[in-house]
Amino acid sequence: MNNHIFIIGMMGSGKSTIAPLLSDKLKIPYIDIDQDLEEILNCNIVDIFKQHSEERFRILESRYFLEHIKNSSTIYSTGGGIVLDKQNRNALKKIGLTVFLKASIQTLYNRINNDTKKRPLLKNKLLLEKLLNQRIQYYIDCADLVVDTDKQNPKKIVNYIINKFNNEN
Ligand code: S3P
Repeated sequence: MNNHIFIIGMMGSGKSTIAPLLSDKLKIPYIDIDQDLEEILNCNIVDIFKQHSEERFRILESRYFLEHIKNSSTIYSTGGGIVLDKQNRNALKKIGLTVFLKASIQTLYNRINNDTKKRPLLKNKLLLEKLLNQRIQYYIDCADLVVDTDKQNPKKIVNYIINKFNNEN
């Protein structure tokens, strides 16, 4: 039985910072789904959106995710939109431990507003807020653990997750 840990949350919530730190501490390998997709397709996310479409990206993301979780225990840094697909949500709810990294719009925006070239859906703060409003319930529904990241540093967040995880096992 695998014991995955899924890190979910909006772009800028810190998923790709927290996943490798957790991986280091727990000695469980981690993957970054976006990075893997970029390598497999030999194309960055912006170009996948441009050359294909968001819809195509979602299909590839979901296909890769649902296939990969059949493997042994892994920590997943997911893309912010992973919760948009129902099958993905079902997997997040049923398997392993899902951690939602929560942050306010201002925090998210401050962390990523220079990354518009890497993030096709990041156009402005209003749009970011719209995306969060559309997704927040999905994030909460899928999460076993919600971590408020606004005022915490990565080390504290990782220790908090590990403590919770240990208490549940
Ligand atoms: C997306 C978030 C991105 C990436 C793609 C779509 C989203 O990942 O998957 O640009 O819909 O929120 P990050 O959350 O790692 O930025």
